[in-house]
This record gives sequence, structure tokens and C-alpha cells, in this order.
Amino acid sequence: MCGIVGYIGNQKTQTVLIEGLRKLEYRGYDSAGIAVFTNEGLRVAKAQGRLANLEERLESAPLVGTAGIGHTRWATHGRPSDVNSHPHTDESQKFSVVHNGIVENYLELKEELISQGHHFVSETDTEVISHLIAREYDGDIVKAVQKAISYMRGAFALGVLTEYEPDRLVAVRQASPLIIGLGEGENFIGSDIPAILKYTRNVYILNDGEMALLTADAVELMTIEGNFISREMIRVDWDAVTAEKGGFDHFMLKEIHEQPKAYRDTMLGRMDESGRKVVLPELKLTQEQIKNIRNVQIVACGTAYHAGLVGRSVIEEMVRIPVENDVASEYRYRSPIVTPETLVIVVSQSGETADTLAALREAQSHGAHVLAITNVVGSSIAREANDVLGTLAGPEIAVASTKAYTSQLIAFYLFGLYLAQVRGTMTEDAVAEVIAAMEALPEQVESMLTNAESIKGYAEQIAEHENLFFIGRGQDYAVAQEGSLKLKEISYIHSEAYAAGELKHGTLALIEEGIPVIALATQEAVLEKTVSNIKEVKARGAEVMAITYEEHVAGLLKSVDQAFAIPKTLPILTAAVSVVPLQLLAYYASLARGNDVDKPRNLAKSVTVE
Ligand code: F6R
Repeated sequence: MCGIVGYIGNQKTQTVLIEGLRKLEYRGYDSAGIAVFTNEGLRVAKAQGRLANLEERLESAPLVGTAGIGHTRWATHGRPSDVNSHPHTDESQKFSVVHNGIVENYLELKEELISQGHHFVSETDTEVISHLIAREYDGDIVKAVQKAISYMRGAFALGVLTEYEPDRLVAVRQASPLIIGLGEGENFIGSDIPAILKYTRNVYILNDGEMALLTADAVELMTIEGNFISREMIRVDWDAVTAEKGGFDHFMLKEIHEQPKAYRDTMLGRMDESGRKVVLPELKLTQEQIKNIRNVQIVACGTAYHAGLVGRSVIEEMVRIPVENDVASEYRYRSPIVTPETLVIVVSQSGETADTLAALREAQSHGAHVLAITNVVGSSIAREANDVLGTLAGPEIAVASTKAYTSQLIAFYLFGLYLAQVRGTMTEDAVAEVIAAMEALPEQVESMLTNAESIKGYAEQIAEHENLFFIGRGQDYAVAQEGSLKLKEISYIHSEAYAAGELKHGTLALIEEGIPVIALATQEAVLEKTVSNIKEVKARGAEVMAITYEEHVAGLLKSVDQAFAIPKTLPILTAAVSVVPLQLLAYYASLARGNDVDKPRNLAKSVTVE
């Protein structure tokens, strides 16, 4: 976790660094700090808490200079505090480091350094890096960094400055993301593209085990062993305003409203003109390989895992291949049974989630073909997977994932259809029927969003409660799990999602007078059964709100207290519609409780630690 930026050039360094950090705050916001070369040498300013605290500090004592590094922290080693904030320096204050990742053997290294007379002030692993670099320095910062990292194990992206060489900035990437931005007479580093997009669209993406030496006029790329490399520059065509709030009060609300566009973009060019076939030319997976797939494993974390639950029902129904879902942090420790005929699908918005990346590597080590469904093309997961099916949701800034989740659903629908075509498990007419229903989804979601505030009143009622339940069957259960996570993470209301038929096996004991239960009731094949389960909770005093199709509202209102109607689609596609009111419910409940919707407590956007 954490975000890093760096700048060398003639603009106001402090401003460039703060702007970059603002774009990276979603990666962590426990503290922020910068180091800048000033006339008096290398100077550091840092502050616990949000970036605004650092800005306040800099107002009275700005740092003026021509190169600098900055950091926004999500605490891993050492609690959030001023002293644990980055940048970290050595005792001489001549070397300054920002770091994203974890140095696994830092305690060992720290003990060694202490025995050599070094003194530490923080609890962080990063401070060890600045001391190691200082110890190894012999007039060449690149060599010192190379030496230092040869002792380090773990994941790190680094930005390093030394007062001895004020015209050089060193960047390293080892299993944590880092990009280099190329300007005219200035250059940049950043944990990801939005950090530098205001200043340049030309970037190099570093691979693991690579580093860069930046001056104002040049960038040299090399391996961490010191072999020079060349890399093609990438021109980023992201629109800077897509990364801004665009008139909405919060990024989350903006991103909920961007879903119709994300659906269209993710489908674009992936259905042939006749509307009867899915085409995925980007896939390397051959028809032969597809025919030989014996089982599928879908591995991911959090919301992406929930998208995988829907993916499972989609693939099983369309292709009739057995599919398992795995939480990525469990996958490699359960000795998964993977063969070369296993297709492993990893799902990750950021493409940087450490557990998902580790699961990908585990699967590949057993010879599996790994397909990544990800939103970030240059990400580690995208680069290491055998195949990538990109979601085109655009940058997602709010910590709570919305448009990335629904774009992942679209990717699963496309991929399921594609597999079904190759394996002949669906007729052309059946495929065409799903495609037509998919094409209608953006408008259906748009129609719901024009009425987004209609759920606000219910959300305000929910906000008064401390506990509630979501229930559903089949795909409704998968969506219930996502609805529950969304509500928990931003409203801090405790909720649980249950397969509707499972409550009576224990949890029904928790149902008491007035407890809210949100029942997803869209799956017509099991509607009657869901209604029976609704009656079970109603009989024990629950206040039930149903989410269902318009045509079932009247019938359901005999058993529930209120109902929210959603547009009708095919049962297999329902999740892409039914999740939207749940996202809005979480949003308005969080708002009603006065929470920081976009930056919920204890969470960060990109989880690059295990
Ligand atoms: C919740 C949320 C998280 C992420 C999870 C995986 O709203 O966003 O649960 O889904 O941390 O992140 P990615 O998709 O980046 O691998």
C-alpha cells in the first residue's frame, strides 16, 4: 500500500509533489510527507493524517527546490505517526527514501545496522533502507542503492535522493508498482498514472527488478544489477478530468453513475456486428486449449471475489464446466489442485493486489493458464498473467469499488459466452439473446440512476440501525454478499449476507423485532422459495425490503414492508442491475452517518501487502 511520487525539474517541486500525492491519497492516508532539495540541503516535512495536515505545515515553512520525493502512507510496520511517516532519512540526514511495500527481513537488517552503530528513530522497515544506502554510499547513489537492495527481501518501490548528488533521483521497482513520467526538462516518478497525468502523458512502466536514474533532462533505465535497458515509451490517453469528481459530491457517486459508460466501453468491439457472437481477439487462449479446459478456478479478494461468485454461476450455466471460487489470501495455502487443464481466472481492479498476484504465480507454477480480468493494463497482474481481459471502467478512485465490480461482471458475461461458443454449449440464438440483453443493460442502469435518490429515505432509516441482514438465492445471494460488504465498508453498519434458505440453520436466532432484512428476489426459478424465507423472518419481527422486478412488486408487497423495483433482464445478467440500488443504499447510509464516503476508516484502495 502507500503511494510515492518524485520530481526533478524547474517547476515548484513542492506543488508538483503535493498534487501527485493528492491523486494517490486513495492508496493510503495515514500520513504524508515530502523531501526537497533546498538551498540549505535536503529538507523533510511530514505529518500524520490526511494530506491537508502536511499542506498546513508547509504553509508556514514551504520547501523550495528543484527535486523532491513524496509519500502517502497506509501503515503496515509501525502505527500512523509523524515519526513513522515517510520520507525516511539516515542519521546524517543526507539520504532520503520513500517506499511502498514491505522489507520482509528488515528486523534482521536493523539489528545488523544497530550493531554497526546506527540509531533508528521510527518503527518502520523503510528507515532501514535509508541507513543501508548511507552505509553503502561511496560517491555514486545508483551503486549505493543497488548494493542496499541486494540485502533486502520483499516488495518495494522506492524513490531515493541524496544531498551529495542534488541533480539525480533514483527509482526502483521490485514487486510494487512504479512508473516514470517523461517531461521537457523535467521528469517524474509515481506509483500510478494519475499522480503525474497533470504534467505529462508520456510514461515508462518499470518491471520488477528494474530501476531508473532520473535527471531533469534524461532518464536511464537499468536492471537492479546495473545492466542498461531500453523501453518503449507509452502515451497515456486517459482524460485527466475522468480522474476528478466531475460535479458529484463524492467519487463513489460519480463512479456509480459512470457504470452505464463502463458497461458500454467494456463491451465495445467485443460483439460482432451481427450481434450474434462475442469476439475476443485479444485472448491468447487457443480454441484447442478452451476445448481442453476441465475446470475453472476464480481467485480474487473482496469485491472482485464477489464478482467471481457471479462469474461462477455465469460460466457454469453457459459452459457447464465446474468452477470453484477462492479468496486469494487462502488459495496458495490450501494446496489447490491445479492441472494444465485448469483455467485460473484472477480478478483485480487494481491489478496490484498482493494476494491475487501471489495466487496467479501459484497457479502458473502448476502449469495453469491464468486469465486476468483487470482494470489496469500496465499492472503487475496484467503483465504476469498469460491472458488479459481488460475491463474499461477507467480509473476508480473511491475506495469502495462500484464500476470496477460491474465491469468485471460484464467481462464474465463476455467470457462465458465466448467459451460457450467455442465449446458449443449454447446455440447461436441463445448467445444472441444474451448479447441483446447485455446491450440493453447500460440504458436500464441509466434509467435507475435518474431516480437514484429514491432509495435515500430507506438508507436514512437503515443508518439508524447497527445490524442488518441481506438474503437471496442463486445469483441474488452473490449480489447480497457484495451489497453487505459495500454497506459495511462505508457506513460501518454491521451486516451479513445469507443464502436465504440457510438462515434457519442458526442465524434466524438473531432475527428480532424491527431488524432490517434486505431480500433480493429476482431469480424467478426460486422466487417462491425466497418468499417462504422472507416469511420466516417477517414472522420473527424483521422489517423486510425486497429488491425485485416491477412485475413482482405487487405480489411481494403481501409479504414485505417495502419493495424497490429494478428493470427486467435475463436471470443470468441480473447482478449488473440489482447491485446498483445496493451501492446507492450504502452510499446514502454512509452519508447519513456523516462518514467519509470515499475514504472509509482503516481501508485503502490498493492492497499491495499480504
Ligand atoms: C471493496 C473493494 C475491495 C477490493 C479488493 C480487491 O469495495 O474495493 O474489496 O475489491 O481489495 O482489490 P482489487 O480488485 O484491486 O484486486
